[in-house]
Amino acid sequence: MLKASTCIACLLPLLRAVQAAPAAAPSSEKYHPYPAESQWLADPTYGPIPGESDIYNYYWGTDRPFPGNITAPIFPTQDGPPGVDDWTWQNLLSAEWIIFEFYQRAVEIFTEEDFVKAGMPQTAYRRIQEIRNNEAGHLRIFQNQISPTSVKPGACKYNFPFADPVSFLALMTVLEISSMAFLTGLVQQPRHPAGRGAMIAIAEVETRHETWALIDIWKADPFGGTSDTVFPYANEILDTTNAFIVPGSCPPENPEYPHPRQRLPALSAGKDTPALTPGSNISLAFTDPRNQPRFDPHWQYYAVFFHGVLNVSVPIDTSVWPQKEIWVTIPAHFETKGVIVAVVADRPGAPTKESIVAGPGIILEQPTALATALLKGGMSI
Ligand SMILES: *[C@@H]1O[C@H](CO)[C@@H](O)[C@H](O)[C@H]1NC(C)=O
Ligand SMILES: *[C@@H]1O[C@H](CO)[C@@H](O)[C@H](O)[C@H]1NC(C)=O
Ligand SMILES: *[C@@H]1O[C@H](CO)[C@@H](O)[C@H](O)[C@H]1NC(C)=O
Repeated sequence: MLKASTCIACLLPLLRAVQAAPAAAPSSEKYHPYPAESQWLADPTYGPIPGESDIYNYYWGTDRPFPGNITAPIFPTQDGPPGVDDWTWQNLLSAEWIIFEFYQRAVEIFTEEDFVKAGMPQTAYRRIQEIRNNEAGHLRIFQNQISPTSVKPGACKYNFPFADPVSFLALMTVLEISSMAFLTGLVQQPRHPAGRGAMIAIAEVETRHETWALIDIWKADPFGGTSDTVFPYANEILDTTNAFIVPGSCPPENPEYPHPRQRLPALSAGKDTPALTPGSNISLAFTDPRNQPRFDPHWQYYAVFFHGVLNVSVPIDTSVWPQKEIWVTIPAHFETKGVIVAVVADRPGAPTKESIVAGPGIILEQPTALATALLKGGMSI
């Protein structure tokens, strides 16, 4: 599940104030503390171009590849209203900084031998480098999707709960599959059809990364069922990734991440949960002590499980919580494939984002043993 014990501290409500709307962002003419080169990135033809340059594929260095080597926010170069899809691309760019830094850190702290010693194939480290390079290309693509009237968010500082190759690869599997799920929701946001197409193309790349991990790393069946999981409220999944951001570390010019942000209580399966497969009885843990749900004692709440293109609602008893844990059974008729996204909602089917009162939690179904190991090990996620 996304969110965990080791990272509780990062879940404390961020002091970061809600940032100004993109149109109100500072202009490049005003004083700012960033290197001049950072502002040259406003020109989409500056630097290597994704789809043309091999650095987004075959760069085998440990240094940060472009544009990951330039972490400052990029200021608007034109006055005027923000583009209709700017918030969506800003959200995606902020999320991409997290993913890029995650891979970049692994490239910096591990070596080819570390992966081999952990029982992984000789090629594992190079694949991680290639994924890192792809993610750098995503940074550039997303920067270029934001219109010249809006700020392009820069990098923050991040904490990732991994220390060895295996815990890194486990977290990678969860992150890749989570990004496949949030992209199914995010693709519903852009008004421009071409933007939706670009998002699908990126989601497909994340799927290739995940498929590689299933085959080569986990020696598992690479297929994820007839359909990956559609979860319509992308920002709610993005919000859970705030757990990786060091509070207060983002450039002050960055917009709120994600925007709009609901700050829902984090949801995870409890440590006493024996298994996460369909049909398992799980306890619900609200892992952020500073952000707990409030239940109306006279209201019926539901755990809503999203899998494939379906969702199934199961009534839950919240009347004696927190004195008594809330237990719920994952729908037994779901296949043990891909991922299940769970939320707590005040209506069956969670038909609006406002109906959700806690979550989402990401329940990994593949590889099954990894999901249980993550839960038992208390490894965040
Ligand atoms: C970043 O990378 C680009 C492309 O490789 C290079 O031209 C530029 O000098 C680098 N800038 C910094 C600050 O490292
Ligand atoms: C789930 O487990 C809890 C705690 O052991 C138990 O009280 C509850 O009856 C179980 N529910 C089902 C459907 O097995
Ligand atoms: C969940 O499924 C129900 C019934 O098929 C549907 O009406 C509802 O819109 C779905 N919820 C979401 C959030 O897609």
